[in-house]
Amino acid sequence: MVKDLLGIVCSPRKFGNSELFIKELYRHLSGDWNLRLMRLPELDIRPCKACYACLFGEMRCRQDDDFSMALQALVECDAYVVAAPTYLLGPNASLKRFLDRGLAFYAHLDRLWGKPAVGVAIAGVEGMEGYTKLAVESFIRLTFGELRGTDAVYGALPGEIFLVGDGTVVAQRLAKALEEKREEVDPAIPHCPLCGGDTFRFLSGGRLKCMLCSSSGHYECSERGFEVHTLPGEHPLFLSYQDVERHARWLQGMKEKFLERRKELKAITQRYIQTGIWIRSKQKDEPES
Ligand SMILES: Cc1cc2nc3c(=O)[nH]c(=O)nc-3n(C[C@H](O)[C@H](O)[C@H](O)COP(=O)(O)O)c2cc1C
Repeated sequence: MVKDLLGIVCSPRKFGNSELFIKELYRHLSGDWNLRLMRLPELDIRPCKACYACLFGEMRCRQDDDFSMALQALVECDAYVVAAPTYLLGPNASLKRFLDRGLAFYAHLDRLWGKPAVGVAIAGVEGMEGYTKLAVESFIRLTFGELRGTDAVYGALPGEIFLVGDGTVVAQRLAKALEEKREEVDPAIPHCPLCGGDTFRFLSGGRLKCMLCSSSGHYECSERGFEVHTLPGEHPLFLSYQDVERHARWLQGMKEKFLERRKELKAITQRYIQTGIWIRSKQKDEPES
């Protein structure tokens, strides 16, 4: 049976490196696949309004834009690949804008959970991808995909990832991971034992935090090398299916909590109503209330 691969292009540049990388990866797939593509920056995906409506009742976002269509494409695909260009040391904002609407993912947990997914961070200057790879990994984990592999590839001009960078080799490798199994973790690189993340924040007292799954732990340097030990915190967001369900329930429970404490919270916000002068959009001039 033909399967659908969804290519999520996070660059506004037509025939740019992100788009070409996805198409190259598709060419290396050995199975029977269709490639469907979506370019996030050209879709009308507005900022989340934090109304939480997508967590209750019909569990649908109330905004009338392209988000539902994009989410549907993700829900329907068999696997996906995300390619994000680096803009100022992070991913193009379209990646985060889609992700910010992600409380709406919980309604589709069953169909989203565990889809094979890979991702790539593209950067114009070698080593200057900042946190783009981390953001791509975060995108895949928070859309409940099974993260099979990620990498960074370099090239500034459209197509240059295949000239100066190892775009073809990485595309081939990630195509294999997508069809077969998660790439082996390189034992020489410290990884979070819980999620496989390789980006950490170092804290005092030999402690650290994994920037992908937010688990805390400690590190040690021994003759075995640099070792990371982490434990899941109270709110793991995606380590297991049960974690996702638990977090969804916790979020839903916040409504009750809000209603219980409404008066108390209102009294706090009242104290700040008159403070500061807002710089407002020319299109909108809503009074603060
Ligand atoms: C606004 C802007 C900011 C950029 N910032 C960075 C950066 O911080 N680091 C980097 O290595 N490349 C940076 N680049 C270069 C792009 O990441 C690079 O050209 C990449 O190939 C673009 O991918 P695309 O062809 O898919 O659009 C920037 C490009 C733009 C347009």
